[in-house]
Amino acid sequence: MNTTLMTYPEPSTVLLSTTEDERSAQSGGLRRSLQSRLSTRVRRVPPSPIRRYFDLATTMDDVISLGIGEPDYVTPPPILEAGLNSLRQGNTAYTPNAGVPELREAVTQMLTERYAAPAYDPETEVLITVGVSEAMFLTMQALIDPGDEVLVPQPCFVSYTADVILAGGTVVDIPTYAANSFVLTPAQIEAAITPRTKALLIGYPCNPTGAVMNREELSAIARVAQKHDLIVISDEIYDRLVYDDHKHVMFASLPGMAERTVHLGGMSKDYAMTGWRIGYAAGPAELLGAMHRIHQYLIMSAPTGGQAAALMALTDPCAEIAVQEMVASYNDRRTFFVDGLNEIGLDCFEPKGAFYAFPSVRRTGMNEYEFAEKLLREEKVAVIPGSGFGAGGSGHVRCAYPVHRQKLEIALERMYRFVRRYGV
Ligand SMILES: Cc1ncc(COP(=O)(O)O)c(C=O)c1O
Repeated sequence: MNTTLMTYPEPSTVLLSTTEDERSAQSGGLRRSLQSRLSTRVRRVPPSPIRRYFDLATTMDDVISLGIGEPDYVTPPPILEAGLNSLRQGNTAYTPNAGVPELREAVTQMLTERYAAPAYDPETEVLITVGVSEAMFLTMQALIDPGDEVLVPQPCFVSYTADVILAGGTVVDIPTYAANSFVLTPAQIEAAITPRTKALLIGYPCNPTGAVMNREELSAIARVAQKHDLIVISDEIYDRLVYDDHKHVMFASLPGMAERTVHLGGMSKDYAMTGWRIGYAAGPAELLGAMHRIHQYLIMSAPTGGQAAALMALTDPCAEIAVQEMVASYNDRRTFFVDGLNEIGLDCFEPKGAFYAFPSVRRTGMNEYEFAEKLLREEKVAVIPGSGFGAGGSGHVRCAYPVHRQKLEIALERMYRFVRRYGV
């Protein structure tokens, strides 16, 4: 965790009027004056909900953090070695802007083999990025004009909203709820569409809920996208982290969707490679070309060693075995933790994907902010309030369970003590 980041002041989310700007400048308060000169876009971006709990947790000893959405593994050995060897061989320069051709080829092949994806042209329809984070930012920058509306089912990964706002667009919240397994319905999309709607952004398996959508449910969404001519951005970064009988369906592989979908995927979660910073985008050449144009000015090329490691991850059978072992271990912890939450009275919908549980805290009588703060102060367990991830998240907290099994046990004991104290 980068603690130095935490010292940055948050841009004020309050938009100052011109008169306030002037007054502030006249009063000579430089800091306030600088705040008032920040762009409207950046001031519209809400602060990350995670930060406050990180800040608090770092001041305390013996905290069990269920706050961080990262694998608790080191990158599997063959992948790690491939990255290190590439650097040792002197590959420390930029790569081609779009990424090394072998990696683009490997992404295309993997998507076709694994998900019967359309045969993307690695030259013009695939881009290697600095994680899905960059790919999402590029997608929004390439697509969105001020005033364009983007439909975003929520709760969702915090960057979705920020990226739409930073592109000048308007986020149209579509709340999803535990009662409906946090899935998006065609009727909800239909109800949210206006003449300004340009795109729909989906992210299943979902951070923060762990919800997944099956083929039938996604096909119904695809029909609405077709009917209303929507561009779909599908963040499938957790595609391999699915459990029980669930089979991941790549949205772009559904009939008629390849030509209107930007598919985003990455190495961070499935391969325990968050720090290598490699993701990819695949989609129609017109859109990918526009994203490439921004990427070459913004980034030049994704990390060189990371691309070598990613190539190994996508092509080496040992890497595949490592993924399966990690998924089995997450699954074990998932069932243990989710059962435990339900037993202690924190009702939890069964997440079939990613590595998050999203229990309701309503039975404690507290809202999610009060719950998260008191749980941290009184029992030293860090969780994230669900409404920080948008509409539909209120009354819930996000718990990331890639934590050692023994620590999960202790966390549950502490949470049990805590909820009993508050009458559950
Ligand atoms: C749903 C989702 N999308 C994208 C990202 C960003 O991942 P990357 O490391 O590829 O930038 C995350 C990270 O937490 C995520 O949860």
